Amino acid sequence: MSNQEFWQGKIKIRENYYPRFMSAPVDGVSDSPFRQLVRDFSPNELLYTEMRHASLVANERTGISLRYNKVEMPMEYQISTHKTDFVEKAVEKVIAADFSSINLNCGCPAKTVIKSGCGSALMEDLKHLETLIKFFIKTIDGRKAFTVKIRAGFKKKNAFDVAQLAQDSGVDAIIIHPRTQPEGFASRLDYDLAAKIKSHLSIPLIFSGNITRFDIAQRVYDLTGCDGYMIGRALWGAPWKMKEFTEAAAGREFKSSVELALTYALKHLDLNIQFYGPNGFIPFKKQVSLYVRDIPQAAQWRMRLLRSQTEAEMRNVFSEIYKEQNLTIKT
Ligand SMILES: Cc1cc2nc3c(=O)[nH]c(=O)nc-3n(C[C@H](O)[C@H](O)[C@H](O)COP(=O)(O)O)c2cc1C
Repeated sequence: MSNQEFWQGKIKIRENYYPRFMSAPVDGVSDSPFRQLVRDFSPNELLYTEMRHASLVANERTGISLRYNKVEMPMEYQISTHKTDFVEKAVEKVIAADFSSINLNCGCPAKTVIKSGCGSALMEDLKHLETLIKFFIKTIDGRKAFTVKIRAGFKKKNAFDVAQLAQDSGVDAIIIHPRTQPEGFASRLDYDLAAKIKSHLSIPLIFSGNITRFDIAQRVYDLTGCDGYMIGRALWGAPWKMKEFTEAAAGREFKSSVELALTYALKHLDLNIQFYGPNGFIPFKKQVSLYVRDIPQAAQWRMRLLRSQTEAEMRNVFSEIYKEQNLTIKT
């Protein structure tokens, strides 16, 4: 298959076909407002929720962790846990909410997460991991696809064995971020490991890590042969990023602009207020700086946006930015 044909093709996860790019699960970022913005540009791509613990999904009263707008579909729900308690109840709720598929997080490196044996700590004990994966598969009982997201390993690199175990247990696809837990999100990615795993798997392997441009995705495909490519940080403050890649794959160019970034900053703020209520401008502060990074005096605007104490104050700063850029806010 030529490189061009590959990118026009689809990845098959059980009976579902998806574009090869997909958005990553990112705690604190890939919430419903963010996913709706990504969907504006990427109509068919698989999106991921934030990671949520099985006990929270099973027991929360508000149901906020399962709330979404139907435009966000197709979407995979990511669960974190280290034991089977609450898995049945959580899975039933995720299936009742009609998410496209379910993912088990076996990759999170955060100390607060691994301390309780969740995330990447699951990769340390293969027997235990096998029991947990099989429990998910038995509970889901073929009603949805089930995938796992792994690292190169916990302390030592054992992703090859973990991937084989996952496939043999009946997992439908694997996502790999090829760094170990101590390597966090910044060290060199192990492309050779991803390539070795890919060449031994019959289920799809999705690559996650530093895919910030289409030519980088092409290079990673050449190095690893992976079936899908997950985009994480490149989408922050740039929900059009996957569109940039798919356009490049089709030989076209998608050009973003300051006006587009400002329009989407305000849309993000609107959706956050709708979703979280009047204080929705506070979680938006995590991403607001990225929307204004390309305008003159970005540092000064960033500071003022981050210091805003109310939604109205933040909107006033945006009005000033628009004025300074000779742009008009479209309502
Ligand atoms: C702040 C932050 C939060 C993350 N949260 C999650 C998460 O909830 N679940 C998950 O599987 N991965 C999570 N990740 C990892 C990403 O999904 C992705 O694998 C990683 O950022 C590498 O991809 P990138 O270089 O495209 O960002 C997180 C990463 C970061 C930086």
